[in-house]
Amino acid sequence: MNEYKDNIPQHVSIIMDGNGRWALSRGMERKEGHRCGAEAMRIAAEFAVEKGISYLSLFAFSEENWGRPKWETDALMTLLMDTIHDETPNMMKNNVRCLFIGNRNNLNADILQQMDKCMAETACNNKMTLIIAINYSGKWDILQAVKQLLMENPSGDITLSQDVFFNYLSTAGIPDPDLMIRTSGEMRISNFMLWQMAYTELYFTPVLWPDFRKSDFEAALEAFKKRKRRFGKIEESINIP
Ligand code: FPP
Repeated sequence: MNEYKDNIPQHVSIIMDGNGRWALSRGMERKEGHRCGAEAMRIAAEFAVEKGISYLSLFAFSEENWGRPKWETDALMTLLMDTIHDETPNMMKNNVRCLFIGNRNNLNADILQQMDKCMAETACNNKMTLIIAINYSGKWDILQAVKQLLMENPSGDITLSQDVFFNYLSTAGIPDPDLMIRTSGEMRISNFMLWQMAYTELYFTPVLWPDFRKSDFEAALEAFKKRKRRFGKIEESINIP
């Protein structure tokens, strides 16, 4: 069970959804929605730092997103490169460590280089860890953990437990999300951190991601404070035989 101060979740995950609808409803191109979504990302990260959240994970690009038209995946990849480049100084200013998780295989060398540069530069920061999931899926994460485990233990001579398995996930060392926020009214996990979200509190808001502001984040944190997390147990106060 995670510990948190003043009911502030230690780890918040966000599925940033609704960029396309936001743009189309304004007669704009979808990529304009992504551009404004990148700005909402920056605002959310700064707010998380202000609130004392230790880990913020953002689902920026799923493995399934490759199924979109090439012009859109190209636009997302370019935006990603520019955002990482432009935001690294801000991360330094805010003492934020940045980690990227996901399958590196289909990413081009320029993006990988930008990601690695950002991770190296911010490695010693310790106020908040920002985890950006790119070319990520929860099923991929579990499979890559199994493959790594088998490679390191070809004879199968290992006592496997949940704690041991956790060390092979791309989020090894990072506490599981306490709260997952998804924007745009969709109520799905969409192959995000499947193993890690076993006991995450889920919060869904109709706000489209480019419109997501500090007040919306605050509303999610307020809702979280009211949740009773029991992790499958019963509350002591109602533990009457
Ligand atoms: C969902 O909107 C969002 C994404 C596919 C990507 C998330 C991207 C951002 C927040 C922008 C910044 C991106 C990077 C990579 C820095 P959608 O296109 O699925 O919206 P829709 O459901 O309304 O079509």
